[in-house]
Amino acid sequence: MPGLSPLELRQQFPIFSHHPGLAYLDNAATLQKPRSVIDGLTAFYERENANIHRGIYNLSAQATQKYEQVRRKVAEWLGAASPHSIVYTSGTTAGINLVAQSFLEPRLQPGDEVLISAMEHHANLIPWQMACKKKGARLCIIPMNRAGELDMARFREMLSGRVKMLAVTHISNTLGTINPVEEMIHLAHQKGIPVLVDGAQSAAHFAIDVQAWDVDFFAFSGHKLFGPTGIGILYGKKAHLKAMEPINYGGDMIRNVTFEETTFAPPPQRFEAGTTHIAGVIGLGYAIDFIRQLDQKAVRAHLKELGRQAREQLREIPGLRFIGEAKESSAIVSFVLDQVHPHDLATFLSAEDIAVRAGHHCTQPVMDFYGIPGSTRASFAIYNTPEEINRLAVQVREVQKFFS
Ligand SMILES: Cc1ncc(COP(=O)(O)O)c(C=O)c1O
Repeated sequence: MPGLSPLELRQQFPIFSHHPGLAYLDNAATLQKPRSVIDGLTAFYERENANIHRGIYNLSAQATQKYEQVRRKVAEWLGAASPHSIVYTSGTTAGINLVAQSFLEPRLQPGDEVLISAMEHHANLIPWQMACKKKGARLCIIPMNRAGELDMARFREMLSGRVKMLAVTHISNTLGTINPVEEMIHLAHQKGIPVLVDGAQSAAHFAIDVQAWDVDFFAFSGHKLFGPTGIGILYGKKAHLKAMEPINYGGDMIRNVTFEETTFAPPPQRFEAGTTHIAGVIGLGYAIDFIRQLDQKAVRAHLKELGRQAREQLREIPGLRFIGEAKESSAIVSFVLDQVHPHDLATFLSAEDIAVRAGHHCTQPVMDFYGIPGSTRASFAIYNTPEEINRLAVQVREVQKFFS
């Protein structure tokens, strides 16, 4: 954000002109959309709408061109060697399910192991759990400490010849922990173990370089990247994607069809059956343009500072306990308040126009680890301000007074 303050940036997000008093602190759930993305989507539907890969007429050819241009843009932005490594999905969840079913399952034997961490979102847990159940394999969990940091010594010990896959989140959506994924990829590869990184919480705020990391798969969602819902990306190494069978069948993913036999298009098309979320892809392209014009260093510094200020102010409140205090953490702050249920707290905050998340955040095993039913989570983005953090801290104190 060259020279742009969060308040100036806010003006690019129409939601805040409709809700001027809103402190939107639920950015880990979804980011608000800038004007350029909204206008780009509207322009597509108003002036450019047609189905892709099918029509000979101009409108369809142009829509196809734009759709494939975005694939090249995503590849470049992620540091991928080729756009053929970029699969359009409906989101992080769909990308992980595709890898679990199409890449892992055929390779998995009874007695094999799949490694995930103790802090995974259900989207990066259940697909692996189901694959293990089907194949008689074991899902093994890399433990973490009370601060919410992975036990790297234990992780090293767990990397045996039985492990067929490692799937780990870059940033925990509940704890805010930033995991040392590059080191984990390196260690896993020394044992020949392929790695999927769940980038749902990191893609918008981190420079990702899939080739430098040498990661096998990287999944993220457009809506956590200032883009539309219902669109996501699965990056996969070309050799892996080539070896994978499709899991959805239908139009646009075939080479040749007879009643007896079907042959499939090469990747990525073979994983994109049916009419995909074309407008979503176009919107994602505008979202990446938006991110690329921001000063990434300034964005990271701003988020780090918001996270620090939030922790500093909330720490002062008696009876408040953080859930996750990793040394390396992002602008996601989870906490519990003595004698106040997270839902009550979030309801009170909502009455003051402060939007936070309350509950298990799709990480029930994390809640079990801390022995709590849920937590309250404030998560920040580029348009948030220190003033909003002050408001949050003041109102949390008010709620606490009310309940005591
Ligand atoms: C770490 C993490 N992984 C996966 C997901 C699932 O993303 P989606 O619902 O967009 O598929 C989320 C969503 O909150 C997340 O935070």
